[in-house]
Amino acid sequence: MIFAANFKTNHTRASTRLYTEKLRSGIAAKHADDKIYIFPPATALDRFEGDFTIGAQNAYMAQNGAFTGEIGLEQLAEFDIRTILIGHSERREFLGEDQEFIAKKFSFFQSQGFEILYCIGEPLEIREQGEQAVIEFLLSQFEGIDISYDKLIIAYEPIWAIGTGRSATVNEIATTHEALKKTVQKPLLYGGSVKLDNIREIIQIRGVDGVLVGSASLDVEQFSKMILS
Ligand code: 13P
Repeated sequence: MIFAANFKTNHTRASTRLYTEKLRSGIAAKHADDKIYIFPPATALDRFEGDFTIGAQNAYMAQNGAFTGEIGLEQLAEFDIRTILIGHSERREFLGEDQEFIAKKFSFFQSQGFEILYCIGEPLEIREQGEQAVIEFLLSQFEGIDISYDKLIIAYEPIWAIGTGRSATVNEIATTHEALKKTVQKPLLYGGSVKLDNIREIIQIRGVDGVLVGSASLDVEQFSKMILS
């Protein structure tokens, strides 16, 4: 199973260090084949010791240069960061990243050999139109994306389930993952209000290869328990 923590705009450099120290002991008893990813904010990227991978929530498609407010390969290389999150709905929605831009970013980081955790997810009005509309919407988010890339992990995160406390139902996750797997044969994570209460039933769903966790990952004890659950 894959357990990924997306800190979003939470935690500092100091608290991330403490977090990773506690995580290291917290997950000592995890299954050997479980893989853990932590995506701290850019200011907290660093080298941390432990059986987990640190990834960037975002970066610009450049080595370095004049891209105010962004970080590039140079800043990631300082800490050997080789994993990146691309396509998160919050970047699509709040930062105005459209599919064309996201596809360019994907190609750039693919060409650099990065492991890419690529996020897709539908808004509520699409979900309300039924499963067929959902799948069409989700497949449109693969436009320009090389889904055969060997270092690709997909995260399905319905927007209406993110940060709302309301996860998709087991049936919704199962149906959507099954449909996605017909097109994309890559590890497929579910994200959206995953917490200690529901993680067991979610990771047992066929077609779920792991989870991408926001709010419930911010507390290291809780996230460690989720991994060991
Ligand atoms: P929550 O777990 O807070 O719903 O966030 C999910 C998410 O967006 C992870 O990328």
